Amino acid sequence: MCGIVGYTGPKQCVQTLLSGLGKLEYRGYDSAGVAVLDGGRIAIRKSVGKIARLRDLVAREPVSGTCGVGHTRWATHGRPSDTNAHPHQAGAVAVVHNGIVENHRTLKKRLQDRGCRFISETDTEVISHLLEGHVASGLSLEEAVRSAVGEMKGSYAFLAVSEKEPGRIVGVRLNCPMVLGLGEGEVHLASDLPPLLSHTRNALFLEDGEMVVAEADGSVRLTDFLGTPRELRPRYIDWSPMMAEKGGYRHFMLKEIHEQPRAILDTLAGTTIPESGELFFETLPLAESAIKGLRKVLLIACGTSWHAALVGKFMIEGLARLPVEVDLGSEYRYRNPVVETGTMCIAISQSGETADTLAGLREARSKGAVTVSVCNVVSSTIARESDGVVYTRAGLEIGVASTKAFTTQLVALYLLALHLAKKRGELTSEAVACHLLEIADVVRRIEGILSRGEEIEDLARRFMDARDFLFLGRGVSYPIALEGALKLKEISYIHAEGYPAGEMKHGPIALIDEWMPVLVLCSKGESYEKTLSNLEEARSRGGRVIAIGTEGDLELAEKAEEVFSLPECGQYARPIVEVVPLQLLAYYMAVLKGTDVDQPRNLAKSVTVE
Ligand code: G6P
Repeated sequence: MCGIVGYTGPKQCVQTLLSGLGKLEYRGYDSAGVAVLDGGRIAIRKSVGKIARLRDLVAREPVSGTCGVGHTRWATHGRPSDTNAHPHQAGAVAVVHNGIVENHRTLKKRLQDRGCRFISETDTEVISHLLEGHVASGLSLEEAVRSAVGEMKGSYAFLAVSEKEPGRIVGVRLNCPMVLGLGEGEVHLASDLPPLLSHTRNALFLEDGEMVVAEADGSVRLTDFLGTPRELRPRYIDWSPMMAEKGGYRHFMLKEIHEQPRAILDTLAGTTIPESGELFFETLPLAESAIKGLRKVLLIACGTSWHAALVGKFMIEGLARLPVEVDLGSEYRYRNPVVETGTMCIAISQSGETADTLAGLREARSKGAVTVSVCNVVSSTIARESDGVVYTRAGLEIGVASTKAFTTQLVALYLLALHLAKKRGELTSEAVACHLLEIADVVRRIEGILSRGEEIEDLARRFMDARDFLFLGRGVSYPIALEGALKLKEISYIHAEGYPAGEMKHGPIALIDEWMPVLVLCSKGESYEKTLSNLEEARSRGGRVIAIGTEGDLELAEKAEEVFSLPECGQYARPIVEVVPLQLLAYYMAVLKGTDVDQPRNLAKSVTVE
């Protein structure tokens, strides 16, 4: 939610800030702005709409300077408008902010009583007025920020610059991400890694409760909110800047769909020796005795990652024979859950920053659970706050609709389930080796589907006028039905529902007529016959049935209007393969309808507000 960037160093910074904001646009695109220190004066350019509008504005009204901050907004307090766009300036100080100042009403009232005049509807403006008040009374920017955070409640990461201290940026972090790129004689600051990658790979992730002072000569000082110095802990990041480019694809989403075979191989590499059934998780320091003592697993996630958790339940229960509960971060944290002794909580998050998932993880840990996370972003907050972490190696995911992060989460959960099963004596090394071969085979199967893009594009063309869609699946395919429906509604704005096929007769069947396409996940497997019956029920109500089935299934070919066939797969590998045609279907539907595939309306990729 919202992206912030900053630069201080020897170079002109406006283009760097704009390009950095472009790489953070997935965090929100309601408005954008920059504040540049130009000869001891702050020059601000800001505009409602996407970064492209800000670029035009800067081209018409250029600014220059070697120190500045920028912002791309996902509106929380105050509608998207020029006035509500960041940066917010009060007197000599300008601020860009990600997060929510929860006590902003109280602070605003107090500041107004002192004569401050507010012009926006945002919570952020209280920060700029607080800072300005302290700076005007003689405090340095650093002291002013320290004092302000003592008065603020909520979750925030913000950057501040002052006309009185050219070349200096002060930043803080509390429950919203901030990372520094330590370049040669320059400092980059951002909400996430993509803006930094083309400048430096030396990254320093701020911890909650930390404050940074970045200077024009490239030096940085790190302290806690009380001013106690903290050690610098830079990390080398091995993501390539090319990951932030489209690489010849029309959209990031299509590129990321096509990257899935590589992403899965990378997730497997370093964790498995397929031939011998060996699994090793360097960052999962759980003793065998601790794994044997487990009595329950709790999976917490949001959005697409929650769908991965629903599949993970089948994997962990089926293979490791441990009871599994799945919950949404936003539900779990507010219901005073019971955490039994011997519970392992696994938080699943692509970004590692989703506020509700993080809060759920903290809740489970405070009640005694061992915590593990499945994350894609190295050193993200959720990864750092877990006792152990399994990294998906999807690489940078930019498309707001998650694709390669999802399939690699499924692979990571499959591997984790095998690991638990082996340590608990539920599977032999030979059995694990068979499963690993099955996972390795997924790569070839996905490559096969990717080469049939045109077939799916044709399918999309035939159904693009539908206003509603029903996705049905049973067992391990039910979460894939949910994911297929989510992908479609997220990017094509077609209303879609995912439903357990067996539950259709308890409600959604009433909706079915010749205008309602019903996509049924009907591969050969545990519940094939029953799903086939559900497919018939939909067809006999006049529904237009599209089936995702198994190669050579002639019965299915007779019953469905359209069939997209996949090679036969084992139970736990099947969802990883089945989701790919649904990703492509949603993608082509969206392209045909002309929507903004990578930046669908109202959404943001990383949701760091509650
Ligand atoms: C947002 C994104 C989804 C994502 C969800 C959870 O809603 O648009 O694509 O699945 O957040 O994000 P996480 O980073 O925790 O996996």
